[in-house]
Amino acid sequence: MKIAVIGTGYVGLVSGVCFAECGHDVICVDKVKAKIDNLLKGIIPIYEPGLNELVESNMRAGRLAFENKIGPAVKESEVIFIAVGTPPKPTGEADLSYIEEVSRQVALAMDRYKVVVEKSTVPVKTGEWVKRTIRFNNKAGVEFDVASNPEFLREGSAIGDFLKPDRIVIGVESERASDLLRKCYQPIIDQSVSFDLETQKVIHQAVQDTKVPFIVTDVHSSELIKHASNSFLALKISYINAVANFCELAGADVEQVAVGMGLDSRIGTQFLHAGVGYGGSCFPKDVSAFLEISRDLGYDFKLLADVIEINTRQREIFIRKIKNALWILKDKTIGILGLSFKPNTDDMREAPAIDIIKSLQLEGAKIKAYDPEAMDVAREHFQDTITYCNDPYEVARNCDALVLVTEWDEFLNMDLERIYELLHYPIFIDGRNLFNPVDMKKIGFEYHCIGRQIPR
Ligand SMILES: NC(=O)c1ccc[n+]([C@@H]2O[C@H](COP(=O)([O-])OP(=O)(O)OC[C@H]3O[C@@H](n4cnc5c(N)ncnc54)[C@H](O)[C@@H]3O)[C@@H](O)[C@H]2O)c1
Repeated sequence: MKIAVIGTGYVGLVSGVCFAECGHDVICVDKVKAKIDNLLKGIIPIYEPGLNELVESNMRAGRLAFENKIGPAVKESEVIFIAVGTPPKPTGEADLSYIEEVSRQVALAMDRYKVVVEKSTVPVKTGEWVKRTIRFNNKAGVEFDVASNPEFLREGSAIGDFLKPDRIVIGVESERASDLLRKCYQPIIDQSVSFDLETQKVIHQAVQDTKVPFIVTDVHSSELIKHASNSFLALKISYINAVANFCELAGADVEQVAVGMGLDSRIGTQFLHAGVGYGGSCFPKDVSAFLEISRDLGYDFKLLADVIEINTRQREIFIRKIKNALWILKDKTIGILGLSFKPNTDDMREAPAIDIIKSLQLEGAKIKAYDPEAMDVAREHFQDTITYCNDPYEVARNCDALVLVTEWDEFLNMDLERIYELLHYPIFIDGRNLFNPVDMKKIGFEYHCIGRQIPR
């Protein structure tokens, strides 16, 4: 298959590389020329485990190319995946201007039948607008289909998620589009190209009895599946955070409650970890966009407004915990462990660390920080307003409190006795419930966490 992927960010680059790994000929396009120039030199713009190797091997095999212009890529390809950003507007609505721009450019370059696929996360009915835009700009009157194929990969485990997904969803209006999309995914559906979670390696070996569910729906339902799924996961996080706040008042332990709940197979253990709340480039914007499109369509989806409100409040509650531990923040030095919105990524979009650091700075605190992968992104964001450190120990040295915001494994494995010795005040505020309160107390820390009881 000849495939074009427009937008070479987290989703576009990973999708393009994985399709190439499946044996297809893929052209990845991005309008940022510097990004394409770097990719052609083997410089990968994002941190994603395993991505560098796959880009390199597929380029060497001649299956993966990079382009700055949409036109040639569209002419070469049968299937065109749109994977550009759909960021939030100040109102919470999704900004679909990049989707519109690409639809127009694709239409102008179309010279024979194409399937144009929304891979970006878009509100329901976007497909109709894409179709209309292509129709108006497709002067040659070429036949085409618009399809939806939402992406469920998670940053940090993106390659494994793409090659070994729980399901593949497509929304189509014709059998022709459905057949072409099935062909794109056939090696993944059959798991003849898959991912071994133990070794974290791509495997090429047909597994007879394993098939990935391939769900074919109408375009609206497929678009909605993505918003409904992400909002449900965000809801689970907000739910357990609300339970955590209740636990603190009721004298219960949210970790124990979550274990007891999660073992019910109807509920499941995932996304029941209390903490500072969700962030990232997906959940915040997708829940807001889902709420806004619901309003547009005349349905007041109040539950989603509550999910957002609980998540916003969770950061405020955490900031209050820091204030309560330190009393006066002015001129205190606070160490931040973890800046990315979650472990195994350098992505800081909507990261809780941003709000937390800004609030502490507003009260006059000085910030030292470390993250295993997000330091460059953080430098762009905070410039010289914080002190950047090389490891957790440098952060802890002479700090008045240490605040853990992202649960990287590196922090789980750090020498806590050494951290204790380095701190000015032995205050540890754990925003991800990474440590055991009894162990922390034994070392001598004044330990604060979320929804758990601290031994006296
Ligand atoms: N990041 C995730 O974990 C994730 C997971 C699932 C779905 N999504 C969705 O996928 C979409 C893309 O997300 P992302 O995180 O990859 O975004 P991103 O910001 O990392 O990448 C988007 C890329 O598109 C490029 N672009 C914008 N306009 C363009 C144009 N006209 N022509 C060519 N390139 C253009 C940008 O330069 C950028 O490189 C969003 O809708 C997002 O909600 C993201």
